[in-house]
Amino acid sequence: MSRNSIALRLSGLFTLVALLVFLLIGGALYQQVDKGLGLLPEAELDARYSVLESALTRFGNPEHWAKIHNKLKLLSEEDKRIRFWVVSSDPAYEYGDPDQRLRRFAQGPVGMRDLTLPEYRHPLKVLVSQLPAKEQRPPLRFLIAIDTEAVYETQHQLLIALISLAIIGVLLASALGYWVARIGLKPLIRLSEEAQRLAPPRLSGRLQLSSLPPELTQFANSFNSTLERVEQAYSRLESFNADVAHELRSPLTNLIGQTQVALTRGRSAEHYFEVLQSNLEELERLRSIINDMLFLASADQGSKATKLTSTSLAGEVATTLDYLDFILEDAQVKVEVSGDALVRIEIAHLRRALINLLSNAVQHTRPGQVIRVEIDAREGQVAIAVSNPGQAISSEHLPRLFERFYRVDASRSNSGANHGLGLAIVKAIALMHGGDVFVRSDKGINTFGLYLPA
Ligand SMILES: Nc1ncnc2c1ncn2[C@@H]1O[C@H](COP(=O)(O)OP(=O)(O)O)[C@@H](O)[C@H]1O
Ligand SMILES: [Mg+2]
Repeated sequence: MSRNSIALRLSGLFTLVALLVFLLIGGALYQQVDKGLGLLPEAELDARYSVLESALTRFGNPEHWAKIHNKLKLLSEEDKRIRFWVVSSDPAYEYGDPDQRLRRFAQGPVGMRDLTLPEYRHPLKVLVSQLPAKEQRPPLRFLIAIDTEAVYETQHQLLIALISLAIIGVLLASALGYWVARIGLKPLIRLSEEAQRLAPPRLSGRLQLSSLPPELTQFANSFNSTLERVEQAYSRLESFNADVAHELRSPLTNLIGQTQVALTRGRSAEHYFEVLQSNLEELERLRSIINDMLFLASADQGSKATKLTSTSLAGEVATTLDYLDFILEDAQVKVEVSGDALVRIEIAHLRRALINLLSNAVQHTRPGQVIRVEIDAREGQVAIAVSNPGQAISSEHLPRLFERFYRVDASRSNSGANHGLGLAIVKAIALMHGGDVFVRSDKGINTFGLYLPA
């Protein structure tokens, strides 16, 4: 569709509206005028008759009637539209050469009637009146007729004038409508031009709201907030790439460095063994980073937990603690578990989340302290909270801890299994089960956990 299609559509609608208005007004006007025009001939006949009436009824002998005949002749010569007939049993009083047909017509009812004659294109309007006998004169019928041609002519002209006015009006309305719509749509065109300029990497710009009409500000607002989210996602993606590269670089640097040193001169078998051992650790670290990233990538693509099994959460926590037995012993921390609930989850995922939460807790707990795992079922959801005593985490970090590679203490970044993806994976697992994560830091206790639907 072209950019003008709204303008065209609007002008089409204007045209329709104009057509409707013209039809209504034109139709009403035509009917009103038509009614008025129809009354004109009758009014004229009435007027003519009332002028003649007294003379017609007063005179009762042939001499006087000759005067009346002269008068009628004069009148019909003056105005060609008018004709008179007098029909009587005495030919001395008759006027206008009434033929058989006219005589029959004259004997019909008195009053206003229509008469069709071959020499006229339209019926004549005729006022038929009865004059009673007077002196020597017998009763007679007096007819005044008027040709309605002029009325029909006027009607016809009116119709043509109305139709041509309507056509011109409609054409004008559609042209003006198009022009008005173009002007009205200018802000929209400006807006789309402005939006066109906002593309990566220039995502920081926003649509200017001040110059917009109110109908568009809502649209521009939602566009701006979409842009905001896109910009955030875009910059997260950019920093994610940088983080990934950074995370992968240190194990690789270690691998290369150790291998190069080992190769500088001949070494003993034990030395090679040690180097390989250390290389293996670095390689395992690389593998675990890549595994975590692959897991997050598949979660990003919307993969959901499928192999759901009903499981006791406390049972799963116990199994995970067995698995972490050595680590717990090394760190000299104890774990206390309270509560239980049945949940439908994918067990491998749940264990992975628990391992991440518990190993974080172990890392942040000093020897001799106690980690608490609380399972709490209420209102359709189950909360598993892992709490450990530790330094308060400031509130600016809290909402970001579940982001990929986000760490409070960046200097820890290169230590062993910590590569900053643990909590991101916990969150991905919670979301895969339709749940969510939470974190609290309160009175020297830091709590990380997840909600699962019960
Ligand atoms: N139990 C905890 N106590 C205090 N801080 C924690 C705890 N668990 C996680 N954190 C903070 O959250 C960050 C992210 O955790 P995580 O995603 O598991 O990454 P990593 O453990 O690899 O650093 C950690 O670097 C740490 O700053
Ligand atoms: Mg961790």
